[in-house]
Amino acid sequence: MILQNDPKYAIKKVEEVRKLVDNELGFKQGALACPSQTRTYLFVSNEKKIVGCLIAEPVRQAFRVLSEPAALLESPTKNSLEHQRAWCCSATPERVFCGVSRIWVFSLMRRKRIASRLVDVLRRTFLFGSCLSTSEIAFSDPTPDGKVFATKYCKTPNFLVYNFIS
Ligand SMILES: CC(C)(COP(=O)(O)OP(=O)(O)OC[C@H]1O[C@@H](n2cnc3c(N)ncnc32)[C@H](O)[C@@H]1OP(=O)(O)O)[C@@H](O)C(=O)NCCC(=O)NCCS
Repeated sequence: MILQNDPKYAIKKVEEVRKLVDNELGFKQGALACPSQTRTYLFVSNEKKIVGCLIAEPVRQAFRVLSEPAALLESPTKNSLEHQRAWCCSATPERVFCGVSRIWVFSLMRRKRIASRLVDVLRRTFLFGSCLSTSEIAFSDPTPDGKVFATKYCKTPNFLVYNFIS
């Protein structure tokens, strides 16, 4: 875990990784919303390579993704459109403590529970002395990969999101 007041070499490495992740996620903005409160978790492989990254920030409220109407789920084009489909969320805010601003795993290392382990550690360490539940964390404007991951990790399609374009 790297905090904003850690040594310069660590901050520099985090910035390098964040640029790579932003590039892959298609984020254009270079700067973080609130760098002083941001924490970065890096997953380092046995070969000493960074293969996973989670950037977290304090967030006070988030909104539940709404389930798809049953008719849409039964659609014959379900599989082909699953990944691109737009999604809706509730307008009722819920109290959360932490937001996953970005989560990324190196493409060749996916589906090995690296992202799950990063979120497990985030939940245990983000607030001193408590372990956050999956209803106390939210995901920033999830990508299609992020949506399937969050659904599986939170054990519900109605996980919490923030920062989306309304
Ligand atoms: C989303 C992402 C971080 C997931 O990382 P990961 O290490 O592969 O995730 P995990 O192995 O912990 O996945 C846990 C479960 O989530 C589900 N899951 C994760 N990614 C999935 C995918 N692409 N398709 C279907 N299910 C997926 C699976 O059920 C998986 O368990 P299983 O492999 O036993 O079936 C990774 O796909 C990624 O970096 N994508 C590109 C960046 C991105 O879109 N980030 C999300 C921003 S919100």
